[in-house]
Amino acid sequence: MWRELLPVGRYGATGGYRRHAWNGADAECRAWFEEQARSRGLAYEVDRNGNQWAWWGDPGAGDAVVTGSHLDSVPDGGAYDGPLGVVSSFAAVDALRGRGARPVRPLAVVNFGDEEGARFGVACTGSRLTTGVLAPERARALTDADGVRLADAMERAGHDPAALGRDDDRLTRIGAFVELHVEQGRALGDHPVGVASAIWPHGRWRFDFHGEANHAGTTRPEDRRDPMAAYAGAVLAAREHTRGGGALATFGRVAVEPNGTNAIASLVRGWLDSRAADEPALEDAVAAVRRAAEEHAAREGVRVEVARESYTPVVSFDVPLRDRLAAAVRAATGREVPVLPTGAGHDAGILSAAVPTAMLFVRNPTGVSHSPAESAEESDCLAGAAALADVLEELACR
Ligand code: GLV
Ligand code: MN
Ligand code: MN
Repeated sequence: MWRELLPVGRYGATGGYRRHAWNGADAECRAWFEEQARSRGLAYEVDRNGNQWAWWGDPGAGDAVVTGSHLDSVPDGGAYDGPLGVVSSFAAVDALRGRGARPVRPLAVVNFGDEEGARFGVACTGSRLTTGVLAPERARALTDADGVRLADAMERAGHDPAALGRDDDRLTRIGAFVELHVEQGRALGDHPVGVASAIWPHGRWRFDFHGEANHAGTTRPEDRRDPMAAYAGAVLAAREHTRGGGALATFGRVAVEPNGTNAIASLVRGWLDSRAADEPALEDAVAAVRRAAEEHAAREGVRVEVARESYTPVVSFDVPLRDRLAAAVRAATGREVPVLPTGAGHDAGILSAAVPTAMLFVRNPTGVSHSPAESAEESDCLAGAAALADVLEELACR
């Protein structure tokens, strides 16, 4: 499975993945998922929000145990963020069958659509639509960098955007959701597998700095209204806030108009990603960056507008389910299992508002993620898939 997926959507010049919602690479990933489902005799379906499901057992029976993750990537992402969870889910199904285990409740593998929000800006679009925290009309109107509407991209990929919307009927048929994911820091130490306790609250804010385009060679310093200078002040403020600890604030994406070397920009649009251990710390971080942006904008004669594009409150995973995961992993390994929070967002975090949800993490030896350099040892991946199989056996077969 891993070898088949590796070349899909990989950009030769960087070695990173460009699997973005409803693009060609995404379609190839989705075809791969369907093939995995069908070749195992699992019932395949796509839900109204474009998420893919592979069912072992009757999807209508209720109290289903669902596992899975996502196949899309950030721009030039790594191979593991997302796909490791989907591949491990199918591997766990194979392991259960190899053990002769028989689910007494339905078991499903899911591929949630557009987890990273790389193309249309909102992360976890598929799970947010399903749980109702993203309104379908807002989702349909999201646009990518070329101005293509999500609704049109979806339609071109063969999915009906009119069907989007909250899916309570589906959610009430799920008894538990478990997502396996590569760990995205170096928090597991000498443990190949860990369990998540919580996800830090996090969100995305768009900062628009409106200035005045002018000639780079003839405009006197006192006549400039340079949005790039104001933006630079905001970036440094985010960096300073991150250095202070407790919160992370990152401008990782910027768009400049008209983007000419010999012209002062008319508009700089920067996206702030901020996360913190608790919501007051997150609010403080965003407020500090916003204040700095306003001060620098005033100094440069620039107007700044700030819009929140998405927000996920703190997530505490279901404690009984989390304990069952930890017990299953402990029984298999004979060791204590790290139970830790993460600053990374996941569909599990969105689902947790509606369904008992938990996560397994597989060790990341370098801690690098959202980069082509992301990696995991094969032996750790196998340990993760085995742990997931144990957990699914405990949840679905007893
Ligand atoms: C998703 O990977 C996120 O944390 O942004
Ligand atoms: Mn990610
Ligand atoms: Mn992910």
